[in-house]
Amino acid sequence: MKLVVTSALPYANGPIHLGHLVEYIQTDIYVRFLRLAGEQVIYCCADDTHGAPIEINAYKLGITPQELIARSFQEHTEDFEKFQISFDSYYSTNSPENKEFSDLIFSRLRDKGDIYQKVVELSYCPKCQRFLPDRYVRGTCPRCGAHDQYGDNCEVCNATYATTDLIDPYCAICKSVPARKESEHYFFRLSSYTDRLRAWLLENKNLQDEIKNYILNWVDAGLKDWDITRDAPYFGFQILDDPTKYYYVWLDAPIGYMASTKHYCQTHGDDFDSYWVKDTGRIIHFIGKDIIYFHFLFWPAVLMGSGFRLPENIVVHGFLTVNKERMSKSRGTFITAREYWQKADPSYLRFYFAANLSHSIADIDFDLNDFKDRINSELLGNVANLANRSLNFLKNKLNGKIATADEGEYRALYDQKVPAIIDSYYKFEFRSAIRGILELSDFANKYFQHAEPWKKIKESEQEAARIVSTCVHWVRDLAILLKPVIPLICQKLEQQLNLPDLTLQDLGQSLTGHTIADPQPLVQRIDNLTLIGKGIS
Ligand code: 2FM
Ligand code: ZN
Repeated sequence: MKLVVTSALPYANGPIHLGHLVEYIQTDIYVRFLRLAGEQVIYCCADDTHGAPIEINAYKLGITPQELIARSFQEHTEDFEKFQISFDSYYSTNSPENKEFSDLIFSRLRDKGDIYQKVVELSYCPKCQRFLPDRYVRGTCPRCGAHDQYGDNCEVCNATYATTDLIDPYCAICKSVPARKESEHYFFRLSSYTDRLRAWLLENKNLQDEIKNYILNWVDAGLKDWDITRDAPYFGFQILDDPTKYYYVWLDAPIGYMASTKHYCQTHGDDFDSYWVKDTGRIIHFIGKDIIYFHFLFWPAVLMGSGFRLPENIVVHGFLTVNKERMSKSRGTFITAREYWQKADPSYLRFYFAANLSHSIADIDFDLNDFKDRINSELLGNVANLANRSLNFLKNKLNGKIATADEGEYRALYDQKVPAIIDSYYKFEFRSAIRGILELSDFANKYFQHAEPWKKIKESEQEAARIVSTCVHWVRDLAILLKPVIPLICQKLEQQLNLPDLTLQDLGQSLTGHTIADPQPLVQRIDNLTLIGKGIS
């Protein structure tokens, strides 16, 4: 089987922040784990480059949208590299492949009668000479009367409405009063997919129940057809056979998953259809809970209608909170990827997120004190300490040569922990995987401590070698089991073990007679770390 795994495409309109990184780190851990297990997997993603906000922001900055998205692409790819996100393809939705797939899908849907035209009435700013998307009209909530609310929903009473329902509306760009104007848009007949979507949701056993039930409620409440076009000015693709309209960004964004796969295939001599069309293919998306409507309804319906494969799984995670609250610029808790990597080691964040991630949509919290404690006590005090003391002892006192392990001790702990850790990775339960890893390491440290090889060596070098070599076997297993989470640290450990490119197949194998290289410290203690803002320091 050939698997394509994706993360949601970040908007090319702002920086990558810690909230985004939850998802890229979660996906990357999964993909790295599968590679380690020998699966044929590619990780595809892209910048999400289209839409009104990009066009408006570029205009405000006095640059073209193309310049804006090129800038973001540079920044995003640099950030991802720092965090060791191992994309096989990181592309752009503003690509020829994406235009081709968007047209192909549009034409297939149109030809089978799933697309129709309808006149809609929209907010239009006569001064800016543009239709105003939801977020660009502000005014008074028609339900509760709260002032200065967005055009799509009220943050005070949670009402949802159309921009034209707002009382005393104004254009968020120029503050003038918008008019109402008619325009003919293209609609996708989502409603006619109701039964097929329900069947797909019910049959798919991989989906998280809490999400599935949520979506089924929406399906049962009745699905509305979807407006998939926008008017100029817009930054996006002109639609097939009608240059006055553009594909709505949410139509071509997920198609970007395919375009990114295609780009990979073209540059690596691989076959696109073997992922997205033929039975050999498997597709897994990772997304946040804010975009489930698009991924569990629109996207599968578009795929069904256009003859592509459906995702076998869509893994949904919760939001990141900082000190238990949503990240906020005014509270100083909005931390960008760049601010983080300029001050702290990205491996530590990967470890911390993994230690908090499960297959659930519960939010995860970044608490700086907890973060420091866990790095210092678990990564440094537990895992790195075991590696450090075992490898140093072996190198300094026993010529670096691994002896036969105490098979009974070694195997008992291995059997108790390793299969469960592997199972947790497959189930997206990284928190449990980390817990198992730390228990294994903690047990190994205690074994070292109680067995006292530094005393035993005085009477029997052989006995000391057996104890330390047992620990080194566990260290090797830890180096493998932690590779998906902290690949750079594990790579250093592999060098010190003189065992490059370990895979899951190396777990549990005998190292008798193998000579290690020079041990080095793997993890630095975090003492004074400040990450912007007043809220956390
Ligand atoms: O919500 C977002 O940030 C979107 N840019 C995600 C798009 S994911 C996919 F559908 F392209
Ligand atoms: Zn205006």
